[in-house]
This record gives sequence, C-alpha cells and structure tokens, in this order.
Amino acid sequence: MIRDDSGPTKVCVTNAKGGTGKTTIAINIAGALNERGEDVLFVDVDPQGNATEGLGMLDAYDAAPPSFFDVLTDSDRRSVINDLIVEHDEMDVLPSNLDLLHAEQELTIAHLMAKLKERSDQSAGLEALSSLAINVSPENVSGGHALDMLDKAFDALDHEYDYIIVDSPPFYGRLTESSIFAAQNIIVPALTEASSERAIELLIDQTAALEDLLDIRVNTVGAVANRVEQTNEDQTMIEWLNEVFAGQPVWEVRKRVALQRAFSAGKSIFAYEQSVDMEAVFLEIADELDRAFEHTEVKA
Ligand SMILES: Nc1ncnc2c1ncn2[C@@H]1O[C@H](COP(=O)(O)OP(=O)(O)OP(=O)(O)O)[C@@H](O)[C@H]1O
Ligand SMILES: [Mg+2]
Repeated sequence: MIRDDSGPTKVCVTNAKGGTGKTTIAINIAGALNERGEDVLFVDVDPQGNATEGLGMLDAYDAAPPSFFDVLTDSDRRSVINDLIVEHDEMDVLPSNLDLLHAEQELTIAHLMAKLKERSDQSAGLEALSSLAINVSPENVSGGHALDMLDKAFDALDHEYDYIIVDSPPFYGRLTESSIFAAQNIIVPALTEASSERAIELLIDQTAALEDLLDIRVNTVGAVANRVEQTNEDQTMIEWLNEVFAGQPVWEVRKRVALQRAFSAGKSIFAYEQSVDMEAVFLEIADELDRAFEHTEVKA
C-alpha cells in the first residue's frame, strides 16, 4: 500500500469479540509509533471508554456536550473535534464520551436516511426518521450510506498527524463500520484460544460485505496473537491465524502483567518505568506500518 500524501495513515484495531486486547494493542502501537518520532492521534471510539479511562481522561468521558458524539453525528459541529483533543505525553487523544452510547442508534438512523434518499418520494419516511434523531438530518447524509461520518470528522482536524490509531468497540455495528471505513486499514488482535476463531471468521465476512457495500478495499495490516502462553492451544491458534492471515504478519504478544500495569498507570509500555520484553514486538508493528505506508522521515 502506497502512502496517500493527502493525510495521516489511519489504522483501526478491531475485533468484535470482547477482551481480545484491542485497547492494549492500540495504545502500545501508538506508544511505539511515538517512540519512532511519529505524531499520533489516538481515537477511542468505544462507548465504554476503557482507553479514555486508562489514559486518565475520565473528565473528558463525563464532559457535557458538545462531545465526540456531536462531532460524529452533527455535520455543523465537526470542527469541534479540535477542541476535544487532550494531550498525553506520548500522543494526542480524542477521548470517548458517555454520549457515544447513543451513537449506534444515531448512525443507524443516518444510514437509513441515506438509503431512503436514494429512492423517490420518501419524505414521510425521512420525516419519521428525523423525529427519532438527536442530531442527524436528511441534509447531513448523501451517497446511499452514512458510514463516512467519522471519516468526515477526521477531515475537520486542524493538525496533520502522521498516524491516527482507532480503538474500536467490542461489537460489530455502525461505530465499528464507520471506524473501518475511515481507516481502511485494520489490525486484528485475537486471543490464542479456539473460542476466538468465530469472531475472526465473522470479521473477515463482515469486512468483505463492507467492501462490497461501500466500494472500498480494506487492507489488513496484520493480526496480533495476544496473551500468548506456552501451551498447545496457543500454538494451534497461532498456526490457524497464520493460515487465515496468510501473506500478512501475525505478531505474537505474550501474556505480561507489565502490559496491564502500564495501562493502569495511563501509558504505553514505552513510557512505563519497568522495561518490558514485548516492546520489541510493538516496535516491529510500528516498523511494518512505517514501511507499508512509506513514512520515511522517521525522526527518532
Ligand atoms: N498481552 C497481555 N498480557 C496480559 N494482559 C493483557 C494482555 N493483553 C491484554 N491484557 C489484559 O486483558 C484485559 C483485556 O484487554 P483489553 O482491554 O486491551 O481488551 P479489549 O479487546 O480492548 O477489550 P474490550 O473488548 O472490552 O474493548 C485487560 O485487563 C488487559 O490489561
Ligand atoms: Mg477495548
């Protein structure tokens, strides 16, 4: 994939299965990129706000409107995105907000509006949908789908980042679809246990359906086998991941308490006091991103 000079490289860390390590992997990829001198915006799209809380930004999570929800769903308030960004030692952060709990429904309404607008004489339907909406209106949406709203919000950023890393929620819905559409690059963390297979198969199917619907190509940068231990089940799952993601890297992040401790301390392992052997894996991921997206001017 050749880097598009028109903006930052965007990567969505995603897996609809809960607890696979999306947040941990996303924060540490951001930390590794920062270590390499890249300018990173970390975006917490999960309405649960785990990353936001972990990074010590609960005030932003609880803040009154306008919040990330309004930036996402109200085309007149997209530029507010610049006021919501919080500085962290290693990266800038667009925190999640409690109001994102309404985003699935609001984005679904927007999506239905966009679909209805493609048909003739749907004014009654559009009016009904408008009455259910908080922010979106038929004038806000066009082109047969409304999964481009996060992408358009990113377009309103004043600062040009090298990377935008998106931490996505543990379910497959409009927020995740909007994140994948905005990034068009995904990294997939998976636990090395057999129960993780179904989520990966579904993600691959859902991504293919999204590619068809939106006429885009989603690039899988790689997968991360996470919380790896030395058991046969781990080994079997790593082999399975290598088959499924043939041609793409499958990185292995071992189970390390230090990853949890660094998260609890509000930082990546790169800024954590104690050095952790997994730093090398995250630097490899950052390396692969810089190579794949031709970020040649690394300043670190
Ligand atoms: N490699 C690892 N070693 C040890 N603990 C880990 C590792 N990766 C993640 N964890 C821990 O596992 C838990 C789940 O991780 P995390 O929150 O990153 O997953 P998630 O996919 O973002 O979860 P959710 O689906 O709820 O968003 C956390 O307590 C985290 O600290
Ligand atoms: Mg998470």
